[in-house]
Amino acid sequence: MKINSYNIKNNAKIIKKFKNIDLFDYDFVKLIYGYGENNLKKISSLAKEVAGRTDLLLVIGVGGSVLGTRAFTKSFGKKQVEYIGYNFDWQTITQMKEVIKGKNIALHVVSKSGKTLETIMAFDIFEKYAKKENIFVTSVEESPLWQRAKEKGYSILPMDKNLGGRFSTMSNVGFFAMAYSGIAVKEVYHSACNMIERLNDKNDDNIAFLYANARLFAEKTGKTNEIITSFTKSTEYFMPVAVQLFAESLGKSGKGLLPSYCIYSEGLHSLGQFVQEGRACFMETSITPNVSHKKEGEKFDYVNRVAREAVVEAHRKRGFPIVEITLDNWSCQSLAELLIFFQVTTIFCGEGMKINFLNQNGVEGYKNIMLKKLSEK
Ligand code: PA5
Repeated sequence: MKINSYNIKNNAKIIKKFKNIDLFDYDFVKLIYGYGENNLKKISSLAKEVAGRTDLLLVIGVGGSVLGTRAFTKSFGKKQVEYIGYNFDWQTITQMKEVIKGKNIALHVVSKSGKTLETIMAFDIFEKYAKKENIFVTSVEESPLWQRAKEKGYSILPMDKNLGGRFSTMSNVGFFAMAYSGIAVKEVYHSACNMIERLNDKNDDNIAFLYANARLFAEKTGKTNEIITSFTKSTEYFMPVAVQLFAESLGKSGKGLLPSYCIYSEGLHSLGQFVQEGRACFMETSITPNVSHKKEGEKFDYVNRVAREAVVEAHRKRGFPIVEITLDNWSCQSLAELLIFFQVTTIFCGEGMKINFLNQNGVEGYKNIMLKKLSEK
């Protein structure tokens, strides 16, 4: 992975601050790195066994607790993994009932708190469609969900209390569904660990220093938004992960760039107009996996590359900050690297902004009102 940037000044003071940060001081980094081969073997053989006796895995959860997993299984999985429990929309539930109709399903319910309403209400509905031995629960010890699993005799794949949802993909949270879908979790894990080591380097050209510096520079120079773009639909499931991670970690204390994403070239016919001529209130971060196709695909690759170069040239002229992230290829390994890269960038941004990037108290704003209203009924 490498990055190029345009219209950005490196802030030596900030980079110096980043160099004093040891990634292993953060619980989630330690937990990802320390997951280890043994745990990996266990979760992988369990998931394969379950995959052998069922047709589909339904993962129930919302937000950071499932988005990373979804990016892996939807981008690279072979065996079907579906997702539910992320809204209160009955239509979503009935559509999923149609998807699982006549199928022998496994369930993986993921909720750190064990009481997120979207997740629990979906579990209440789908619990009856799976055999007891095919129901798996991931939560922290003694949460209400953990208790329910214990009472009903479901298998528990524990979650560490020091692991926040959006930093938990590389753990029981994500590895179970990844292995179920046939993804080589060992390769994912090793790529993640290698990336952590690489980003813990104290050199000026550490790519996470450069990206975090760019984001802080954008904010300091009055930008309010970040548009994350790509020229391939392959990235469509990673984009919401990046948006969720940055929004929930860094959007607080009246600070942060409002993240959004756009997939080009389709997006050039919508948001592209704004990017070219609208209010220059944003920075742009593009993600480009290095891929090449044969025969007829060559022509598409060529035109896609020229379109990308043209967009960078046109956007550079406007003068807003641009970061280009190039991946060596598009594989479960490069997705693991990309995810860790964004998570580590979040650490540097959070420290640079002097905020607690690990909590998400703002989410409670609507929840408290909603729960009060529901209890009045
Ligand atoms: O990233 C996060 O921490 C959040 O998005 C949570 O994952 C989300 O709110 C779901 O929480 P829980 O895992 O407690 O159900």
